[in-house]
Amino acid sequence: MNNFIYENKTKVYFGKGGVKEYLGCLLKNYGTVMLAYGGGSIKKNGVYDEIIGILHSAEKIVVEFSGIMPNPTYAKVQEGAKIVRDNNVDFILAVGGGSVIDCCKIISAQAKTDEDIWENEIVKKKFPTDFIPMGAVVTVSGTGSEMNAGAVITNEAEKIKCGLFGAQADFAFLDPTYTMSVPFEQVISGAFDTLSHAMETYFGKPSENNFSDDINEALMRGVIKNMRALINDRDNYNVRSELMWASSMAENGILKIGKITDFQAHQIEHQLGAYTNCNHGKGLAVIHPVLYRHIYKDGVEKFARFAKSVWGIYDRDSEEEMALAGINALRNFIKEVGLPTNFSQMGISENTDFKVIADSTNITAGCCKKLTHEEILDILNECI
Ligand code: NZQ
Ligand code: ZN
Repeated sequence: MNNFIYENKTKVYFGKGGVKEYLGCLLKNYGTVMLAYGGGSIKKNGVYDEIIGILHSAEKIVVEFSGIMPNPTYAKVQEGAKIVRDNNVDFILAVGGGSVIDCCKIISAQAKTDEDIWENEIVKKKFPTDFIPMGAVVTVSGTGSEMNAGAVITNEAEKIKCGLFGAQADFAFLDPTYTMSVPFEQVISGAFDTLSHAMETYFGKPSENNFSDDINEALMRGVIKNMRALINDRDNYNVRSELMWASSMAENGILKIGKITDFQAHQIEHQLGAYTNCNHGKGLAVIHPVLYRHIYKDGVEKFARFAKSVWGIYDRDSEEEMALAGINALRNFIKEVGLPTNFSQMGISENTDFKVIADSTNITAGCCKKLTHEEILDILNECI
């Protein structure tokens, strides 16, 4: 096992009714709270009314910041940071999914400095240390954003979608009943995002026997089993609970202990998103099997283990056949759960400039094979 330091500061309140029971008390030391949310789903499903009621009962000054879009933009971060400064907000409450939580993480940092956070992090490699404290109420699961400090932001001017570091939530509420109103397509797309995080970690280095991969296999099997279960029983609370906690578990650092993660599929998807504003989980669903077919020969042993331990495939003559069977099982599963298997099913035009996307994709070195920009272009072309 490689050396590691592990800490996770987010206190998790999991289950039905947690917000009502604990939120008011958690905010007792704060006067002005920014209630941040997305395009309005929380106004339709009652979550907004519940939370605003709690904030008013606790006599908070509430500043609202709404309209955080899926794939949040850097301009939206700046808008939020200005509201925080203008109103002396001392706590940010992010209510939503990865997009709302990510946007708030960077607002938390940007509100504390006049310097440009993007320039600092991306160009100068200078990372923020001072934040407005924040908490998260998760309404759609998949990204696991509630338990880490990473945030994915789209800089529209630069045409780059990438990860920044911001605040990590002091607390996160995970109430599976809040996810019941999420459109089913998004539930499945989010669950696939969780599976993707697990795979991107599993195929990172080292690839030999280690405890993190053992836990990861259990998580992947669980996500697959529960995604299948949800197809026939969409409102099953227990299944949704399992997927919600798996989502946090895949991104709270536990699976990454002692590992260098890969996240090459994510890097490709992020640039695809920067140019097409596509749905994150769907983009990953198309990219993963194609990417893996390109690289598995350099990591046959690990891909064969994936086939065996995650997909229950044993009856192939060679490790290479095992490896390929595992990737095919992944592809068939993607189809089975109704996710897209090519870009045209996602409405991405074949006239999209895939070369510019490939050339601007960050190349990682965590997996069995380091790709070139030309290979990324081949992968994107195969996804059409
Ligand atoms: O905006 P509203 O109206 O709330 O609607 C949202 C949005 O349209 C809707 N929704 C959320 N909760 C709902 C609901 N609809 C009905 N009922 C509810 N309870 O769902 C839609 C998608 O929301 P979004 O937050 O965009 O989804 P997700 O959680 O998948 O987040 C995606 C973003 O997170 C980034 C992605 O790249 C993308 O920008 N990621 C963040 C990561 C991180 N910070 O660790 C890791 C991931 O790999 C990912 O890159
Ligand atoms: Zn993801």
